[in-house]
Amino acid sequence: MAPWRLPVLPLALVWGWVLASSSPSTVAPPQDLQITDPGLLGSLDVEWKPPPHVQTFNECTVKYKFEYRNTGDRDWKVIFTRKLKFRVGFDLSRTAEVRLQTLLKGQCTGDVEVHSDWIYATFQIAPQGKLESEVQNFHCIYHDWEYLKCTWQPGLLTAHGVHYGLYYWYEGLEHTVQCDHYIQDHGVNVGCVLQNLSQAEYQDLNICVNGSAAATLLRPLYTTLRLHNLAKPSAPEQLELSVSAAGELLVAWSPPGGRVPPHCLEYEVQVAEDAGEAAAAWAFVSTQMETALTISRANQSHVSCVRVRGRTNIFCADQGFWSEWTQDCFSVSIKEDKQLFILIPVILSLSISLIIFMLIGQCKKR
Ligand SMILES: *[C@@H]1O[C@H](CO)[C@@H](O)[C@H](O)[C@H]1NC(C)=O
Ligand SMILES: *[C@@H]1O[C@H](CO)[C@@H](O)[C@H](O)[C@H]1NC(C)=O
Ligand SMILES: *[C@@H]1O[C@H](CO)[C@@H](O)[C@H](O)[C@H]1NC(C)=O
Repeated sequence: MAPWRLPVLPLALVWGWVLASSSPSTVAPPQDLQITDPGLLGSLDVEWKPPPHVQTFNECTVKYKFEYRNTGDRDWKVIFTRKLKFRVGFDLSRTAEVRLQTLLKGQCTGDVEVHSDWIYATFQIAPQGKLESEVQNFHCIYHDWEYLKCTWQPGLLTAHGVHYGLYYWYEGLEHTVQCDHYIQDHGVNVGCVLQNLSQAEYQDLNICVNGSAAATLLRPLYTTLRLHNLAKPSAPEQLELSVSAAGELLVAWSPPGGRVPPHCLEYEVQVAEDAGEAAAAWAFVSTQMETALTISRANQSHVSCVRVRGRTNIFCADQGFWSEWTQDCFSVSIKEDKQLFILIPVILSLSISLIIFMLIGQCKKR
C-alpha cells in the first residue's frame, strides 16, 4: 500500500510536505465522488472534492478527467475540467457509471502530466414494474419544427385500467412538466403532442413515459431526444414545371412554410417520363439545396412528371425525416404536336389558295 493511503495524520502531512518540496510523480485521486438525481428524468449531478493536500501543489494546475457512460455502452464520454460539479445526461433505465482522476501538471511535476488512479461511482434508480410492462414502439417526429408528436403502444402484461403519463424536461425548465395534450385510443393515452419547444432545440430533451395499471406501477421508459434530428418538414410548395427553348424541363419550387429555416433544407427530385404506358417509373435526378433544377428530356416523351420532397440537411442536423412528395406533371410534346397539327393544314391551305389566286390572275391577264 502506498504510504499516503495510511490513515495516519502526521504521516499524511509529512507526505504532503514531501510532495510540495520535491517533484511529485504521483497524485491522489479526488475524494467523495457522488451522484445524485435532481429528478430531471435523465440528468444527474456528479460532485467530488479535490484530492488531499491539493493546496500544496503550488506552481501546478490541478484538473480532472471525468468520464461517464451507461452500463453496456462501449465508450466513455470524456470531459476535462477544473470544476468540482457537473450535470450530465444518462439513460435512467440503465445503470449510470462515472469515473474520475486527478491530472497534475506544472513546475511541481517538471511539466509532465501526472495522473492519479481512477475513482468510480455508479447510480441506479429504484427499479419499478416488470420489464415487459414498459410501453412499446415509442417514437417521435418534430413536425415543421412546430410541434413534437410522440406515440407508443401499451406494454405487455397491461391489465385493465391502465393509465400512461408522459413527462419531460429540458435545460431552462425549473422542473419536469407533464404532457397536456394526449392522444388517446379507447380512453388510453397512446401519444402526446407538445407545442412551443423552440427553447428545447439543439439540446437534450429528457422524456419519461410511465404509468400504472390497477394500483401496480409499470416500468417507465426513459429517453433523451434531440429535436433537430427528429424534424419532418411539410412538402415543398409551388412546384412549377416548364420547358425551355432547348426542350429541357425547368423545375422550380418554394420551401415549405412553417418554422423550418429554409437554409436547413435539402431536396430530392425524381422524374418519371412516360411515352404512353400508364405507370412510369420514378427515376432519381438529384439531391440538392437549391430550389430550382434543369432536367434534360432524353426520351422525347409526351408527359413528364416531377416530384420533390425535403428534409433537414447535414448543416443543421445529423438526421431527419423526409417530407411527403409534391408532384406535378407537364404534357410537353403533346402540346407542341397539337399546335403543329393545327398549324400545318392552315399554312398549307393558305399557301395553296395564294398560289391558285396568282395562277388565276395570270390566266386572266393573258
Ligand atoms: C412558450 O414557452 C415559453 C417558455 O419557454 C413561455 O414563456 C410561453 O408562454 C410559451 N407560449 C405558449 C403559447 O405556450
Ligand atoms: C411518473 O413520473 C413523474 C415524473 O418523474 C412522477 O411525478 C409521477 O409520479 C410518475 N408516475 C408514476 C405512475 O410512476
Ligand atoms: C427513357 O425511356 C427508357 C425506356 O422507356 C427508360 O428506361 C429510361 O429510364 C428513360 N429515360 C429517362 C431519362 O426517363
